[in-house]
Amino acid sequence: MTKLNLKPKDFLVILTGAGISAESGIKTFRDSDGLWENHSVEEVATPEGFANNPILVWKFYKERYYQALSVSPNPGHIALVDLEKKLNKNFLLVTQNVDGLHDRAGSKSVIEMHGSLNTCFCTNCKKKELMSDVDLNPDIPICSACGKMLRPDIVWFGEMPYRMNEIYKALDKATVFMTIGTSGNVYPAANFIAYVRNRGARTIGVNLEKPENMAYIDEFFQGKAGDILPSIL
Ligand code: APR
Repeated sequence: MTKLNLKPKDFLVILTGAGISAESGIKTFRDSDGLWENHSVEEVATPEGFANNPILVWKFYKERYYQALSVSPNPGHIALVDLEKKLNKNFLLVTQNVDGLHDRAGSKSVIEMHGSLNTCFCTNCKKKELMSDVDLNPDIPICSACGKMLRPDIVWFGEMPYRMNEIYKALDKATVFMTIGTSGNVYPAANFIAYVRNRGARTIGVNLEKPENMAYIDEFFQGKAGDILPSIL
């Protein structure tokens, strides 16, 4: 397969989605017909869903947390670690995934724009805690500082993704942009590719199926990220 031939002065921004973790054994959202492990997005991925039924939402994210801990990074994650070592500072990995697998693989410059299963925060005093430090036995875990309800540190629909300023600063410098394993239909992430391409950056896509924002991809590699990334990078 053709190599990407990135140059030392390239600045690369990568966006990953559920597809890169599929080969680790975590289901993508599309797999489940708009349901996420048999729950509707409204039930488990909106502030209203949490307000209606915090016990159900906590049960759901505890399960996702334990599931993510039980799987391992795959060759796709690892190829991105090796790539970062080559590009050093000229590299940013933005992920929509909350499973922490990029971090566990060893990626350093990572922004988890939709939050993380590995942390939670207090609905009252906003203190952030590691899930591994929290007593997860109660139906609704409690803040160690103020005793109020904790919530998963997940950016739900209707909430603002994290670190958007840093992301756009990197997009403004990017000479190459890669989108990997994401269906390209959840905004604002789905828009990054159009933004960088309008600035003249080279765009590359790696995906099992053609994503919604296919029109903005200059070079497309169709297939599994775990097969393709190690061979093109
Ligand atoms: N390698 C590469 N791509 C894959 C693989 C694989 N092994 N398996 C599946 N894919 C592709 C699918 O073809 C699909 O286009 O990954 C994409 C996964 O799409 P989604 O399930 O929609 O996931 P994602 O794009 O990450 O969702 C974005 O939506 O629900 C919200 O906030 C949640 O972060 C999530 C966001």
